[in-house]
Amino acid sequence: IALLTSIMQITRNLTTEGLRMNRKVSKAIFPVAGLGTRFLPATKSVPKEIMTLVDRPLIQYAIDEARAAGIEDFIFVTARGKSALEDYFDVSPDLEAALESSGKNDLLEILRSTNMESGAVAYMRQHKALGLGHAVLCARKLIGDEPFAVILPDDVIAAEKPCLQQMVEAYQETGGAMVATMEVSPAKASSYGVLDIRSQNGPIVSVKGMVEKPPLGTAPSNLAVIGRYILTPQVLANFDQVGRGAGGEIQLTDAIAAEVTAGRDVFGYRFEGQRYDCGSKAGFLQATVAFALARPDLRDEFAAFLTEMHSVKQAAQ
Ligand code: UTP
Repeated sequence: IALLTSIMQITRNLTTEGLRMNRKVSKAIFPVAGLGTRFLPATKSVPKEIMTLVDRPLIQYAIDEARAAGIEDFIFVTARGKSALEDYFDVSPDLEAALESSGKNDLLEILRSTNMESGAVAYMRQHKALGLGHAVLCARKLIGDEPFAVILPDDVIAAEKPCLQQMVEAYQETGGAMVATMEVSPAKASSYGVLDIRSQNGPIVSVKGMVEKPPLGTAPSNLAVIGRYILTPQVLANFDQVGRGAGGEIQLTDAIAAEVTAGRDVFGYRFEGQRYDCGSKAGFLQATVAFALARPDLRDEFAAFLTEMHSVKQAAQ
């Protein structure tokens, strides 16, 4: 009996280890090929992802979050006019040498912390902005047969434990496909993908359907999909059956919803943290204020300025 018990234990351990291996998430896709029309005219020449919150471009926050979650391969789906983004990931030997020789070691350290290892970054082109789903599909050849993450850099999430790391940890237990989710007001639900909820267990939501941009008043819940995903190659295969969806675009939500239809698991993950929609002007400005106030070197001066602005505005009313 003792022998049988230890064989069963070993089998269980091997199965758990096998699942862990299958659920290792080491690749992330960053779709950055959108037109960014809400930021025109700036986005005529500056990619939205290069716009800065205080002194770091949006894309840097996304990279840092991916690294914290154990991502090793970074796949950018880019487009015409995004070369500033590709340049950003090159090392800058001249700048590094100048900072070194002038003894600006703190700046040198900041600069070096943004360097990417050779071979860790790949670029795929999306020739036409046909939608987020299409952008993700453009990276299909680089994904192979393992789960992968998708990060939308214009959703910036301030959190003690980075959002993708929270999800990767939860994913070890759940498998399936997973999307980040948060509550939004009924009025805003029609701007998002929305979850149809089967059941909830703490932060994990079992999903029985998903709708992209439901018309006002028809959303199946108040849980919206936010720009962090852990997906399987099967989701990419679903695009063979998925046509154009909401807004005439090829929607990622529809390919994930096809998983539910096929009887496979899809989960929402209610992350802890504050999300800023930096794809919109109001969200970008809110993030700028929040991130500036969180910086010890700026906090006091900036808070005093905001207080003064507030008093001036109140006096004028
Ligand atoms: P958005 O819906 O914010 O669209 O895309 P957008 O084009 O960037 O911005 P607006 O709405 O015109 O202002 C969400 C994410 O999907 C990417 C975007 O780059 C962004 O990261 N995306 C969208 C693509 O990569 N390709 C597409 O065809 C559409």
